Amino acid sequence: MPIVTVTRRLRFNAAHRVHNPALSDEQNAALFGKCNNKNWHGHNYVLEVSVSGEIDAVSGYVVDLGRVRDIVEREVIEKTDHRNLNMEVDYLSGLNPTSENIIVAMWGVIEPALKPARLQRLRLWETENNYVEYEGE
Ligand code: NI
Repeated sequence: MPIVTVTRRLRFNAAHRVHNPALSDEQNAALFGKCNNKNWHGHNYVLEVSVSGEIDAVSGYVVDLGRVRDIVEREVIEKTDHRNLNMEVDYLSGLNPTSENIIVAMWGVIEPALKPARLQRLRLWETENNYVEYEGE
C-alpha cells in the first residue's frame, strides 16, 4: 500500500525572549542579539503538521485534515496564540523558547493527541526565511 503524507498549516503569533538564565546578561546579548531584548519581541509563526499513512479505502483520505486542525487548534494554538511564550504557555514552562525547543515541546503535545493518526513531521516557521523541523527522534 502506498504511504502518503498530508499536511495542515496553522498560524499563531506570540511574543518571546530568547534567553538562557545560566549565562550572564553580556553572554546572552552576545549569543542571541536582538532576540534577547528584555522587553520581548514577536513573530508570526506558521506550524505545519504532517501525518502519514495508508489511504483509507472508504474515504480516500489518509486522515481527515479537519480533525487534525481541530486537535492542533485545541491542544496547541489556543494555548499559544497571542501569548508570551516565556511566561504563559504551560507546555513551554521552563524552556528557552527557541524554535528548536518550541517544536520539540509541541511534538510532545500533538503526537499523543492525534493518535491513531501517525504524526510524521512538524515544521515551525519563525520567519519567512527560518524554519525548524522535527520528526520525533
Ligand atoms: Ni524571536
